Amino acid sequence: MATLGVNIDHVATVRQARRTVEPDPVWAAALAELGGADAITVHLREDRRHIQDRDLEVLRATVQVKLNLECAITPAMIDIACRVKPCQVTLVPEKREEITTEGGLDVVAHRTACDEAVRRLRDAGIAVSMFIDPVPAQIDASVDLGAVAAELHTGCYANATTDADRHEELVRLTRAAAMVRQAGLELNAGHGLTYRNVVPVARIDRMGELNIGHSIVARAVFVGLAQAVREMKALIA
Ligand code: PXP
Repeated sequence: MATLGVNIDHVATVRQARRTVEPDPVWAAALAELGGADAITVHLREDRRHIQDRDLEVLRATVQVKLNLECAITPAMIDIACRVKPCQVTLVPEKREEITTEGGLDVVAHRTACDEAVRRLRDAGIAVSMFIDPVPAQIDASVDLGAVAAELHTGCYANATTDADRHEELVRLTRAAAMVRQAGLELNAGHGLTYRNVVPVARIDRMGELNIGHSIVARAVFVGLAQAVREMKALIA
């Protein structure tokens, strides 16, 4: 059965809108755990637009389930990850001007920097997941670098506007998922998943962690976070 990683960045986004102390992503993590989250995911961005260094430190000390840190492959971010030691680091691409992560990490093009990042994280005893597009070259490169897991980018599937396109993207994801598993990597997926589109992805053979943020936090505004997480857990189960 697929597991659920709840991305709580948007809770910090609301807080940062006023540069105040609420809502606190640390509370959000506790409520997500109450709702059945299997993992808590945060992205410490270089511009600190939502999650702050303090959040990561407190979450490291308080989160009782798996803590998954998303970060860029820069030496400064890898320094932080190696010091804080989350259970898992997911390496993601990062551009300052983007609204959210666009596309997977191009492991092929940034092989040297990825290699250095993976090596340092592995030496620190941290499991490394690569957030990649569902294409063979990126999976092969992730395997070569010694990643433990690959998180397949589900954005194209989520953004598909016709049934035919959605089906095509699901087939692409399913093929990539089989490659990831065959290579011995754990299989994760995420980006753009919602209560409406998550089920076919959760059904992919041996799917592991689904990382979901926007849709859950959006629903939480109306039904509360623990309930929103409970409803997502029920769907992916
Ligand atoms: N996985 C990764 C690697 C991400 O960068 C994000 C967005 O921060 C997500 C999953 C969650 O995406 P969404 O907020 O669209 O559910």
